[in-house]
Parts: sequence; structure tokens; C-alpha cells
Amino acid sequence: MTDMETIVSLCKRRGFIFQSSEIYGGTGSCWDYGPLGVLLKNNVKRAWWRDNVELRSDMVGLDASILMATRVWKASGHLDHFTDPMVDCKACKRRFRSDKIDEEPWTHYCEAAKGNKFIIPAGEACKHCNHRRSLCPACGKGELTEPRQFNLMFKTFMGPVEDEAAVTYLRPETAQGIFVNFDNVLQSMRLKLPFGIAQIGKAFRNEITPGNFTFRTREFEQMEIEYFVMPGTDEEWHQRWLDERFAWYPKYGMTKENLRLREHEKDELAHYAKRTADIEYKFPMGWSELEGIANRTDFDLKQHAKFSGRALEYFDEETKQKVVPYVIEPSAGADRATLAFMVDAYNQEEVRGEKRVVLRFHPELAPVKIAVLPLLKKNDRIVETAKKLCADLRKRWYSVYDDTASIGRLYRRQDEVGTPFCVTVDVQTVGDDKAAADDKVTIRDRDTMQQIRVPLANVPEIMSKLMEGAWAEIAASADYKIPAKESSSL
Ligand code: GLY
Repeated sequence: MTDMETIVSLCKRRGFIFQSSEIYGGTGSCWDYGPLGVLLKNNVKRAWWRDNVELRSDMVGLDASILMATRVWKASGHLDHFTDPMVDCKACKRRFRSDKIDEEPWTHYCEAAKGNKFIIPAGEACKHCNHRRSLCPACGKGELTEPRQFNLMFKTFMGPVEDEAAVTYLRPETAQGIFVNFDNVLQSMRLKLPFGIAQIGKAFRNEITPGNFTFRTREFEQMEIEYFVMPGTDEEWHQRWLDERFAWYPKYGMTKENLRLREHEKDELAHYAKRTADIEYKFPMGWSELEGIANRTDFDLKQHAKFSGRALEYFDEETKQKVVPYVIEPSAGADRATLAFMVDAYNQEEVRGEKRVVLRFHPELAPVKIAVLPLLKKNDRIVETAKKLCADLRKRWYSVYDDTASIGRLYRRQDEVGTPFCVTVDVQTVGDDKAAADDKVTIRDRDTMQQIRVPLANVPEIMSKLMEGAWAEIAASADYKIPAKESSSL
């Protein structure tokens, strides 16, 4: 496990994630996905969408708008209940969540130690005076106000007039776009229970204490499913979704030991939930939520029926009765999943006395799948062959061509961004005045650093197998072996 600073620094250096508005000093908790970051995050979302929508006959998709009717948030309970208790420092004016305030180290000027300043670990007492924190944990001097409830929704105005009637909110969860479209989707798609509606989209929460890189941000992307079931079958479906979603992360290479399920205590359940369990990942800052899987009962459909005056029901052909379905909600964070896959993939190792940083991404998630590298950039035939191969491979896998360094450096660069395979074109491939072309290229595996030599014409076919995880089998084939003395294992 690595620390977060290492990940933040790699993300910036290699074009995964940048601080938003950095040239203006940055904005609190907003991040921009750079060229490789957007590829990685899109791959995470694509894998989720394919597995949860395209490969299932009981699921359909939706892309609802971020701005919705204001009454949605009254009906959903967010206007009244979506709050965090907040306290302010009367001296430095910093703001804290009162329920989380003792989860961070605190500043203390100790009278028992000549008024010296100490930073005391979270939740601990001062060793000199034995006092616990009572003042502002940041400045160590100011008194704190009484807790006040602070609504986490971002408020804005719709249209040109900025008055109460125009107030609207940025959605704090994508889920409500699904609930208010329940009947539209049911009728247009002629669905039978149980069925689910999935959506990927942005949501916004004015968090008092964002932090830990892209883990807690005020603007974030959710991957949510609302799965509608017959009342009475909800507990069984809840368990099925817990199992299903828990198995999803390791399918894309996440280490099982870094995942756990955590049941919500009764007093932490959201206002709509009967039971919730979180899938947690062991991030550098500790176990934290990747995905919450809640049993939302019939709360949302009933609330929207009440507030809109429209029936949101399902007609059960068997019993000839109308029912309000129960809802199981697997709600995952796209940014959190991307960060967890990144942290989990990170490895630092020593190769022949030198440091090698490698991101061991699953090929489905790797931003770049193949790098095509010419061994000599001054040899026109090598360059031409490599560029043509790269253009061919790009039709199926996102591939890059790079000739801006020596081969050893190029391999390290690709390791550091997690490219599973490099293909090298050399003099033997194209021939010269001493020897005829062998029309073969070298493929190098990121994880083992082993190499094989394969006919140029067969690269796409071999790549298909390699992307499915067949390296060991293909590398064992006598047809592709490179004599040990020619293999550089860089
Ligand atoms: N829809 C659940 C959540 O946003 O936490």
C-alpha cells in the first residue's frame, strides 16, 4: 500500500488528474481528469455499464438531467434531512463537521508546557496536561459555535430572475432522476418486476470537509442502480446485490484483501433506508466507502406519488393487483472506484538495482492498452512500420506510438502509466543490407517484463488473446520464444 501523496504526484506528473483551476491557486476539492485519467475513468464506467446494463436482460439505462423540479427535493426528503451538523471557529472562522471533528489531529497550546504548540493525534489527550480538545482543532485558540444543521445541496437559480420562486438545486444524487422516470421507463419498455434502471452521472454536495484527493469532492460522479422488486423479496435481492457488487471489483483486478463489507448502524442509516451495507476499500487514509448498497423500500416511489399526484405503481398480472415496488440501490462512486483501482494497481519494485514504478491495471481498465515503440527513430522503415502497426492496433485498442527516448526509458514510461503491452519494431523486423526482414516484432509484458517475438501480421490476433490474460500460455509457446541472449527483459 502506498501513501496518497505518491498517488497525487504520479497523477499530476503523468496526466491522470490535475487540481482544478490550478493556475488560479486551485479550488477546494475540485479535480480535473487529464488525458490518461479520462481514459481510465471512462474504462471504469464502461466496464460497470457493460456488466450491469448490457449483459443483463433485467436492466435498462437512463441519463436524466442534473437540474430537476424543486419539489423533487421536498418529496425525496433532501430539503429537510440532507444535512450535516456543522460548527464554526469564532476566531479563525474555519468550519467543521461536528460529528467528524475528532477524526483529525488537533492543535493545542499547552499551559502545562510553557504554552508551547503541539499537534496531537486524532482523538488523543495531551500528554502534558491530559486535556482533550475543546477549542478549534485547526488554530487551537478559537471557541466553537453550537452545532447547526447545514444542507449539503448546492442552491442556484433557474432562469433570469433570482428570487425564491426560481430557486433550484444541483442534484445531490442521480437516484431521484430514476425515481421520477419510473413510470416513463416502465411503460415505454414494458418491463416486468424485478428490473433495474442504471445511470451514470454527476452529483453535487457542498461538503463541509472534502478531502483525500478525489475521494470526497463537492462535484463527483455516481454509478447508480435502482432495482425494483416485489415487496417481500427485497431482503433476498439486497443480499444478491451485495454479493454481486462485492465480486465486481476483484473481477477487474482489485485485491480482495483490500475490500470489506460494513453494515450501517441503525443511527447512521439515511432517512430512506431500511438496511445499508457499504463496500469499503482500504485506501491510504484507512477503510472508506466505495459503494453503498441500500434497501430504500418503497419510500421514494410513495413520496413522489404523494407530492406529484401521479400513481407510481406496478400492475402485477398474476395477482391482478397494483403494487408499489421496493427498491434495492447499489450506489457506487465512479471517482472513488477509479482512485481505488489506481491505488491498488500501484507498485514500486527494484529491477537490476533501479526503481521501477508500475501500475498493474487490468487490461480492460488500462488507459493505454498498447505502446508501439521503434528501436531506432532514424530508420525510416522502422518508423513507418511502427506507425502503421500502431494505426492498425488503434482500431481495436487505444494505442500510442512513442520514439522520444531510449527503449529502456520508453518501457519505464509505459510501466508507470500501466500499459499492459509494448510492441517493439527493430532492424530485424524490416531488414537491412546485411540481412533480410524477418517481419517479426517483439511484444513485452508489463508485469513479468518477459518478451516474445511474433510475426507482424499476427499481432492483432495475439493481442486479442493477451488482453484476455493469456500471456503465460503464449509466452510458453516455442514459436514465440526469444533466445535468452537476445532478450533484454528491460
Ligand atoms: N443514492 C445514494 C447516495 O447518493 O448516496
